Amino acid sequence: MALYEVRGARKVFGEQVVLDSVDFHVDEGEFVTLCGVSGSGKSLLAKMMIGLHTIDGGTFTFDGREVTKLHEREWIGVRREVGMLFQEGALFDSMTVFDNVAYGLREQRLLPEAEIPQRVSESLGAVSLPGTEARWPKELSGGMQKRVALARAVAMRPRMLIYDEPTEGLDPINVTRVNRLLLGLRDRFGITTMVVTHNMRSAFVTSDRLAFLHEGRIALSGSPDEFRRHDDDPILRHFVAASRLDLPTGESIPPPPLR
Ligand SMILES: Nc1ncnc2c1ncn2[C@@H]1O[C@H](COP(=O)(O)OP(=O)(O)O)[C@@H](O)[C@H]1O
Ligand SMILES: [Mg+2]
Repeated sequence: MALYEVRGARKVFGEQVVLDSVDFHVDEGEFVTLCGVSGSGKSLLAKMMIGLHTIDGGTFTFDGREVTKLHEREWIGVRREVGMLFQEGALFDSMTVFDNVAYGLREQRLLPEAEIPQRVSESLGAVSLPGTEARWPKELSGGMQKRVALARAVAMRPRMLIYDEPTEGLDPINVTRVNRLLLGLRDRFGITTMVVTHNMRSAFVTSDRLAFLHEGRIALSGSPDEFRRHDDDPILRHFVAASRLDLPTGESIPPPPLR
């Protein structure tokens, strides 16, 4: 069953129809990548799914409950279960790693203060940064900062996480590491996973299913193998060809490099 289902999503800015009619879903436990060229509206759709953009048309359903027309207060409840990691993934520079990871737990009073250290420690362990609680964001590399942001999202124990361009700007070793982490978090905590990216390299190895957003609609949705067979659309052909060059069919993700 779909944990999140979007039907006929529409988004218009003045004359510009960015999303015309988008049908998209993510099943419970699935790893789905929403891909498409830059500017196709991927981030927009993701933000609409957690109530950060108004919805101009269509039906949004999370866990069997329609959320299309919720009030801001009700969206806060949805965001407790559907977390999102933004492209910027910003940490608070004035807070230690511990306080950054604990931030949402404290703000939303999800755990008593006495239980927070354990949860923070577990979450940092889950992103391969154990024992970094006392560090400051500026002491960490960009890749490590991204993983702290990931730990902060994981600490909330969401049912679903949406990652916007999680591997953007990372070197190949860190791309592999982040991909493994996202898969690991799905497997370890059962977090239903949606990745938004214009980069097909990762999508083909990590995803159960891909959805290709093009000209305001999902032009194709299917497994990586189904995607490789479908090359009738010129833009999709370009995407698939790029992924073929980068990662041969069936290649598995190499073991994690040593830190
Ligand atoms: N707040 C906004 N106001 C006006 N136009 C916007 C706004 N947000 C996004 N857009 C437009 O919507 C389109 C899709 O943006 P976005 O979702 O960021 O694309 P993607 O994430 O696929 O690169 C872009 O053309 C952008 O100009
Ligand atoms: Mg984007």
